[in-house]
Amino acid sequence: MQTTTAPSKKNIETTDFLPLHGTDYVEFYVGNAKQAAHFYKTAFGFQSLAYAGPETGLKDKVSYVIRQNKLTFVLTTPLKSDNTIADHIYKHGDGVKVLALKVDDAVSAFEETTKRGGKPFMETTVLKDDDGEVVLSGIHTYGDTVHVFVERKNYKGVFMPGFRKWESNYNPAETGLLYVDHCVGNVGWNRMNTWVKFYEDVMGFRNILSFDDKDISTEYSALMSKVMSNGNGYVKFPINEPAEGKKKSQVEEYLDFYNGEGVQHVAIATNDIVKTVTELQSRGIEFLNIPESYYETVLDRVGKIDEDLAPLQKLGILIDRDDEGYLLQIFSKPLEDRPTLFFEIIQRKGAQSFGKGNFKALFEALEREQDARGNL
Ligand code: FE2
Repeated sequence: MQTTTAPSKKNIETTDFLPLHGTDYVEFYVGNAKQAAHFYKTAFGFQSLAYAGPETGLKDKVSYVIRQNKLTFVLTTPLKSDNTIADHIYKHGDGVKVLALKVDDAVSAFEETTKRGGKPFMETTVLKDDDGEVVLSGIHTYGDTVHVFVERKNYKGVFMPGFRKWESNYNPAETGLLYVDHCVGNVGWNRMNTWVKFYEDVMGFRNILSFDDKDISTEYSALMSKVMSNGNGYVKFPINEPAEGKKKSQVEEYLDFYNGEGVQHVAIATNDIVKTVTELQSRGIEFLNIPESYYETVLDRVGKIDEDLAPLQKLGILIDRDDEGYLLQIFSKPLEDRPTLFFEIIQRKGAQSFGKGNFKALFEALEREQDARGNL
């Protein structure tokens, strides 16, 4: 089987029943939100935005909201043991709970998705304060992950009602991170097509790209992947499942340590990957090591690029090309002790694909890390 692009026009609905304006925020459930916020500010250059906790009337949790350009993270920790946030962390470790999506109409988003089979996570809820109102609703997706639909057109406050502005004296410089380019889910054996169908049927997405185990395999391990996109392409969710290989696939390692399906990586866009990654590395973020041999042949494969190769090689940035242009990308090591969540930093120069030409080098680098952890 070959890699296929599948923009089958007859399957595209003329009216999008779930118009999305991109990612509103990504919420992480973490063991210690105060320290996590400090880490993301220090290492990635996020800015303090908003806070909710006992001082704002919450009894059981604290949330810090941090932002850089259009990228907003919410870091939430439980204050007591017997609640769903604590259970989530006990089961999964720190991880992504909410992929929140911007909508014009959260009531319609809930109605349209639940009538198509979406399992409700949050009935439509209107939050109000002096700055206006935010309307939220939500449905479940793979694992314990959820999508929250956020309607904020009638709100002018810093984040949403219930949060107060978080002003801090500690404001490390930004690193050029712009917005969520795509967000990848790892699902269980033979579960990829179930979730592809969920995104097609429930959310009106379409499958824009597929990779099978012939595309994504090294000597040892394999996976399969399908990329789901909403109508305007602002929201892209690749879905991975493990495939049989000689040794344990990276997706299996994730599933073992996350204790189920969940978000594998968040890809974040930058306009200057060399500058961004230089800054991130100087702040202690570690990326996968790419062998020198990769750079000996890469320009033969991708052709001429605007950047000098030397800084890309020094930083370990990968290059790939498709029909529309090229892209530069790099993958962090896991951000936590469990080998689960990591980030990709990506700069697109025309290319709308996901770096297929880099899969082999990338997965071999991942396997070296897996091997070092004794999980290959
Ligand atoms: Fe990616």
